[in-house]
Amino acid sequence: TDRYCVFGHPIGHSKSPAIHAAFAEQTGEAIEYTAIEAPRDDFAGAWRAFAAAGGRGANVTVPFKEAAFRLCDALSDRAKRARAVNTLIRDEAGRTRGDNTDGAGLVADLARQAVPLASARVLVLGAGGAVRGVLAPLLAAEPAGLHVANRTADKACTLAADFADLGQVSGGGFETVTGPFDLVINGTSASLGGELPPLPDDLFAPGATAYDMMYGAEPTVFLRWAEAHGARCLDGLGMLVGQAAESFFLWRGVRPDVTPVLAALRRAL
Ligand code: ATR
Repeated sequence: TDRYCVFGHPIGHSKSPAIHAAFAEQTGEAIEYTAIEAPRDDFAGAWRAFAAAGGRGANVTVPFKEAAFRLCDALSDRAKRARAVNTLIRDEAGRTRGDNTDGAGLVADLARQAVPLASARVLVLGAGGAVRGVLAPLLAAEPAGLHVANRTADKACTLAADFADLGQVSGGGFETVTGPFDLVINGTSASLGGELPPLPDDLFAPGATAYDMMYGAEPTVFLRWAEAHGARCLDGLGMLVGQAAESFFLWRGVRPDVTPVLAALRRAL
């Protein structure tokens, strides 16, 4: 049995152990997957200890994705772009490779739910780590354009400049948002405080989709607003399962079927 885990702080409510247990059962892979609360000031030590005890890989969540990025011996291109790592892989030589499956998980979830990305007009709200982590895979799907809007305009402009070589991307403050858009992705943490970025009433094109990277038993404020403005509404539970499936594939070379796992998680929310 190969050992994996998820590192976070706090980590008690993580759904990753249940997701990976379901993937393992479904695919017949013999893995053990636990949750470990690493100390805030010594993520590297926690990973080294896990690896020394035979750990083959790990997921990394808040607040350690940047610390994980810094300790890797080798990084995928998408992890370099994200400047954050959510998947650690220990290779045969004992080296640590870092990857980031968050954006691939989001893009896979959009595809699974038949949301077109190619040629779509896309708006992304927020310019923090969560958004940086998904921009490369979103741009690889070749939207017509991708605008990043953020409360702090500078951060959105910087992000747009950092990704300009990958596609049509622009950035600015919320006042630079002029619709209509086919897809609006909320990557701000405003939902956590029940807040809503200021958005124009004509944000959505006919048939548009609103996607919140957050999820919960109840729709977020952003999704409630989007529904009232005519958009199809999707939350981030599919992205969570999607990123897990991409990590599982990196470790095991097997692609699990996310649909039954997602349905079970949805019922338990
Ligand atoms: P994460 O890793 O979740 O992206 P982060 O890097 O702290 O966390 O970024 C949080 C994002 O949510 C930022 O884009 C932040 O906007 P600022 O860059 O202006 O701080 C955004 N955010 C948080 N609270 C918000 C609010 N009440 N209204 C609008 N945007 C908010």
